Amino acid sequence: MSVRIGVIGCGVMGADHARLLCGKTPGAELVAVHDPDPARAAAAAAFGRDVRSHPIAIDLIKDHGVDAVLVASPDPTHAPLTIACIEAGKPVLCEKPLAASLEECREVMKAEIAGKRRLAQVGFMRRFDPGYLAMKRELRSGRIGDPLFFHCVHRNAVAPDYIDSDLVIANSSVHEIDIARFLLEEEFKAVTVVSARRSRKAANRQPQFLILESSNGIVVTVEAFLDAQYGYDVQAELVGEEGAISLAPSPPVSSRLAHRAGFDVAQDWRARFADAYRDQLREWVAAIETGRSVGSSAWDGYAASATAAAALQARASGAKTPVALEERPAFYAS
Ligand SMILES: NC(=O)c1ccc[n+]([C@@H]2O[C@H](COP(=O)([O-])OP(=O)(O)OC[C@H]3O[C@@H](n4cnc5c(N)ncnc54)[C@H](O)[C@@H]3O)[C@@H](O)[C@H]2O)c1
Repeated sequence: MSVRIGVIGCGVMGADHARLLCGKTPGAELVAVHDPDPARAAAAAAFGRDVRSHPIAIDLIKDHGVDAVLVASPDPTHAPLTIACIEAGKPVLCEKPLAASLEECREVMKAEIAGKRRLAQVGFMRRFDPGYLAMKRELRSGRIGDPLFFHCVHRNAVAPDYIDSDLVIANSSVHEIDIARFLLEEEFKAVTVVSARRSRKAANRQPQFLILESSNGIVVTVEAFLDAQYGYDVQAELVGEEGAISLAPSPPVSSRLAHRAGFDVAQDWRARFADAYRDQLREWVAAIETGRSVGSSAWDGYAASATAAAALQARASGAKTPVALEERPAFYAS
């Protein structure tokens, strides 16, 4: 029997998840959607057959015909909806970040611990990207030696106006924070942030540069620039004592055309991380079928947001700032 899934929030991400759930995710069936904008709900529902459109999000969560929920609505809705899913005993894949505040991250963990079941996964899809996974395998093989630096570049072509300098860190750089934690298997102890001058293409935010120090002294740098115009460009290089590994350009082909040799740059994240979004859903559904949990847990969501919160303080103060992580609950030990 398939896992019957409801999608809450049918904008750019929700619609893309709905599309992937219909045809690209074995064992999944899109059965319900919710979006305050009926046209968006209808467009997402149209990917499936006989998909119910719930005018109220909680009704979708309580729908007895829904086994699991994907939350792709705006950040402030993530924690309340994720907690409602946990209280209904339903697995939930919540887009990143886990919550809009650390207090809400803690409430999600509290709800999961009270229910004694790992039900929440955070949509840090880079953990399923073939490039980062190959990087992790190389690191584990020992061929590049122990890591010293992890350099990350995160450039969007354009971004919505509501993304201010704080959200460049709290909404975008959390991806780098999570993937660095995943690769290095360490937490961060301190962060420094330097803001570049405003691009003339974006009046309401500055590009940010983060320097994160891990508990074992590995330095992670992140350039976060959301108005790069030329495309969506994510780069990463891991430098070890004996060698370095970089993500290859995606797609992994190059062209020679009109006196130029090079490769195409994706317009946005859906094309660049198409494999990662597809595999994230496949593994989420397979894990539900077998009662396991995969991907970023609520603890990972909290740790990424707590590190981002320290980065926001560092940006405001201009000083190197300690990352204050709570002790990891035993519930999230593995
Ligand atoms: N994993 C990634 O790479 C990635 C990429 C982009 C966005 N995101 C995350 O996905 C989420 C959605 O981003 P998006 O780019 O699709 O935004 P969007 O604005 O395109 O879509 C959001 C949708 O949510 C709906 N909505 C608004 N209020 C709602 C509510 N209270 N309840 C339910 N739905 C509501 C809106 O009508 C809209 O259709 C954000 O949290 C964002 O951080 C993740």
